Amino acid sequence: MIGRLNHVAIAVPDVAAASALYRDTLGARVTAPVTLPEHGVSVVFIELPNSKIELMEPFGATSPIAAFLAKNPGGGMHHICYEVDDILAASTRLKAGGARVLGDGTPKTGAHGKPVLFLHPKDFNGTLIELEQV
Ligand code: CO
Repeated sequence: MIGRLNHVAIAVPDVAAASALYRDTLGARVTAPVTLPEHGVSVVFIELPNSKIELMEPFGATSPIAAFLAKNPGGGMHHICYEVDDILAASTRLKAGGARVLGDGTPKTGAHGKPVLFLHPKDFNGTLIELEQV
């Protein structure tokens, strides 16, 4: 069901500083920052030849990554995003298998303008999984 690795996301306290680190120290290509109020984050993507890294800074008072950064003040790996062909079919199959889809289970529009869902980390070896329909 899952396809390519779309991106690995890292929560950071300062997305501009993290962008500079990737651009200047690691020599990576970094996209312009985008704020996603619906997701409570501001993001950039590091464009690698075979995948992407998402750097996310909290946005707004109720950011879903605020608690994560409180526990990991310097930042840390937050989620992994896999591609799926049909997100509603994937959601139905996962729920039937007992996995918990976060929120109300309805896909939201993700950073690439495509539908995304998140799966409970306790159901997947302690890893928060994002599914993106491509
Ligand atoms: Co993501």
